[in-house]
Amino acid sequence: MYLGIDLGTSGVKALVIGEGQEPVAEASAPLSVSRPDAGWSEQDPGDWIAATERVLAALAGQGALAGVRGIGLSGQMHGATLLGADDRPLRPCILWNDTRAHSEAAAMDADPRFRAVSGNIVFPGFTAPKLAWVRAHEPETFDKVAMVLLPKDYVRLWLTGEHVAEMSDAAGTSWLDTGARAWDPGLLEATGLTVGQMPRLVEGSAVSGTLRDGLADRFGLPRGTPVAGGGGDNAATGVGMGAVVAGRGFVSLGTSGVLFAANDGYRPDPGTAVHTFCHALPGTWHQMGVILAATDALNWYAGLVGADAATLTAELGTLEAPGRTLFLPYLGGERTPLNDASIRGAFLGLGHATDRAAATRAVLEGVAFALRDCRDALAATGTAIEDLTATGGGARSDYWLSVIATALECTLILPRAGDFGAAFGAARLGLMAAEGVGAEIARPPPTARVIEPDRGLAEAFTEAHGRYRAAQSAISGLT
Ligand code: XUL
Repeated sequence: MYLGIDLGTSGVKALVIGEGQEPVAEASAPLSVSRPDAGWSEQDPGDWIAATERVLAALAGQGALAGVRGIGLSGQMHGATLLGADDRPLRPCILWNDTRAHSEAAAMDADPRFRAVSGNIVFPGFTAPKLAWVRAHEPETFDKVAMVLLPKDYVRLWLTGEHVAEMSDAAGTSWLDTGARAWDPGLLEATGLTVGQMPRLVEGSAVSGTLRDGLADRFGLPRGTPVAGGGGDNAATGVGMGAVVAGRGFVSLGTSGVLFAANDGYRPDPGTAVHTFCHALPGTWHQMGVILAATDALNWYAGLVGADAATLTAELGTLEAPGRTLFLPYLGGERTPLNDASIRGAFLGLGHATDRAAATRAVLEGVAFALRDCRDALAATGTAIEDLTATGGGARSDYWLSVIATALECTLILPRAGDFGAAFGAARLGLMAAEGVGAEIARPPPTARVIEPDRGLAEAFTEAHGRYRAAQSAISGLT
């Protein structure tokens, strides 16, 4: 059996799979985010460990851990976990959706070395600008930084006692030479850091260390269990979804939205605001467009109108052409394609006829148009997706799936019941590390059904996307 542990933003989830990769047991524990100031988003690394202890205790209670042969990790990307010489966190982790470092990010992005070497824009959510912010605003903390870890790698430190990162998550720091898969001393130096303050790098499917005996004994896991490098949550989901070869991808409707494509090589194109990262398997890369609010936008709107998201989407009938009402989902700025931390969302084209259903449809369409922008940005880099699997909480709404299929002009594949997300991908990486097997075991999940684009509405969606783009230019600078 193999254990995958996913450190998400809203909770830790652990999944045990059997020799045939079938789910055996799962457990989860919630996490909360603290927002001490506008644009700030933090978590206490101690809470990650407490939540991981809870899921391991729950799985041990189900008798699911005794046969585990390998462990894999995945997690929310980009967070800056700053440790002192005693390996204790110096401050709360600054998370992926924290935008306080926007001016530091812009300054770094203006240094051509960052885009050239890392293959990406330096986004405010990435790790390097956060260190520049700490250096400027909390110099006494910066001076004590002995080690910078990504969130899941702090869980690894607790599990194994090792400081290790893997390529897919490391690519989201702005310090990795993404083509060469190695820390870049020059980019680190530009942030006032050295390679000595960074963890050792391994591939996602390689062994990063072994479980500490004390933890093995406490949770009834076999001593010496190997822990794989694992992956950032999107790369791990790619492994879970079988999106490991060019042409295969997934669309994730979580808090953030992701349009992910596996690549056959390293094809950076920072100008498009597409993210180009190492994949979690050796010698492979992936690209993705990231929008910061997907279900986050729907949940925000649900809170505003005092209904839950499921009720709102259930009261929509069959797919309709977009109406005059437009919604732009930039509640906390946007990454792809805008790279704009200060832009904010908007409702436009409201009229007396705009009722609750029309506004709900506009919200769902707005997220779909933001994903269509990501599709266009990926296409501009030469990346096309032939097989697109849908995942995430938002994929529970058939109406939303039809909107997205029609907006993206692409069939969406829905996997059979089960969990093929990040925790599953992490468990697969644990299997690969423990058994020394490769990408061939990362098959796509069995298809339950497909959602076809409504070709009859293609023109109406294209026209509405045109209005969405015009609205985007109109509000940028205004909001
Ligand atoms: C990816 C990103 C998000 C987080 C969410 O670049 O910022 O998808 O990984 O967990």
